[in-house]
Amino acid sequence: MLPWETLEKALTPDGSELTLARRGQDYSIRIDNRELMTSRTHGSEEQLAQAACAPIRRRQAPRVLIGGLGMGYTLRAALDTLGPEASLVVAELTPQVLEWNRTHLAELAGRPLDDSRARVELVDVGNLLDGKTKWDAVMLDVDNGPESLVRDGNDRLYDLAGLARIHRSLTPGGMLAIWSAGNDPRFVNRMRTAGFKNSRSECARARGGKKGPRHFVFLGNT
Ligand SMILES: C[S@@+](CC[C@H](N)C(=O)[O-])C[C@H]1O[C@@H](n2cnc3c(N)ncnc32)[C@H](O)[C@@H]1O
Repeated sequence: MLPWETLEKALTPDGSELTLARRGQDYSIRIDNRELMTSRTHGSEEQLAQAACAPIRRRQAPRVLIGGLGMGYTLRAALDTLGPEASLVVAELTPQVLEWNRTHLAELAGRPLDDSRARVELVDVGNLLDGKTKWDAVMLDVDNGPESLVRDGNDRLYDLAGLARIHRSLTPGGMLAIWSAGNDPRFVNRMRTAGFKNSRSECARARGGKKGPRHFVFLGNT
């Protein structure tokens, strides 16, 4: 088997080490030597976007927010689900991840950054969920899920106060979707307590359809 080749290394704003590696056609992003994301599987990252965007796609000029660029699969699926009047903001913490999406990773999801509906802001996604700016849909894939945090700072997105802030940042009937490596019924309850209607978790297979490990998408609407 081919060995992994390290292409780039970068420090995140909070001092963790990110590594971009390639083996043949496969790419991997690791954080402090733990795999954050691989190009081999992206079915659940796509399902995250489809579940959040399908219910609001017929709105006039919907505005959506994606937390975490990664390899651009969620952004690609959101672009493909939404119409020509939509506008999409991707909040990404690490400048090098954006740079890698313009170079090494650009083709993986079909160059989503070239779409004029999409814009990346190098900012913590939490800063764009202030209750003042309103979104029709918010998609979060910034961590392994609400209870297994790669980055401690992301805790503030998932606690009750954070969920209430997200609720206030959505238009009426707006959608919240959160990616998670595992299921978490207590988190679904917390979403309900924060005011989200139809709070639920959906299984999302890593390879799409019925294939690959089981990931989960937490969903609710205002
Ligand atoms: C698992 S990847 C996202 C994968 C993405 N859904 C895809 O389809 O490729 C997580 C991304 O979130 C970024 N990130 C982590 N915490 C963040 C935060 N608080 N705000 C914005 N971006 C964040 C990481 O730098 C990384 O690029």
